[in-house]
Amino acid sequence: TYVVTDACIRCKYMDCVEVCPVDCFYEGENMLVINPSECIDCGVCEPECPAEAILPDTEGGLEKWLELNNTFGNQWPNITRKREAPADADEWKGVADKYENQFS
Ligand code: SF4
Ligand code: F3S
Repeated sequence: TYVVTDACIRCKYMDCVEVCPVDCFYEGENMLVINPSECIDCGVCEPECPAEAILPDTEGGLEKWLELNNTFGNQWPNITRKREAPADADEWKGVADKYENQFS
């Protein structure tokens, strides 16, 4: 499966949802996640993300993100259409460890 990682937080560009053939993105307030049991591993979303937030879980070290995607991919509402990104999305692009700094 592919997973959405830290870089999505507060960027939430939503380009990813437009290309996913199985519509397996789910929306939280500050980020999206992928439902790992629905993702067919096609990889088309990875290059579409301007924040480079989407990675294959084979990358290693992504256990925490896989768990988070699995948890919220089964709780949050499905999203299939791109909307306007947050006004300050570009300011958060590339900021490190957003999860630790903002939400813990
Ligand atoms: Fe959707 Fe393919 Fe990305 Fe999985 S890898 S989330 S199926 S676009
Ligand atoms: Fe997030 Fe990138 Fe999609 S910032 S909403 S994973 S396009």
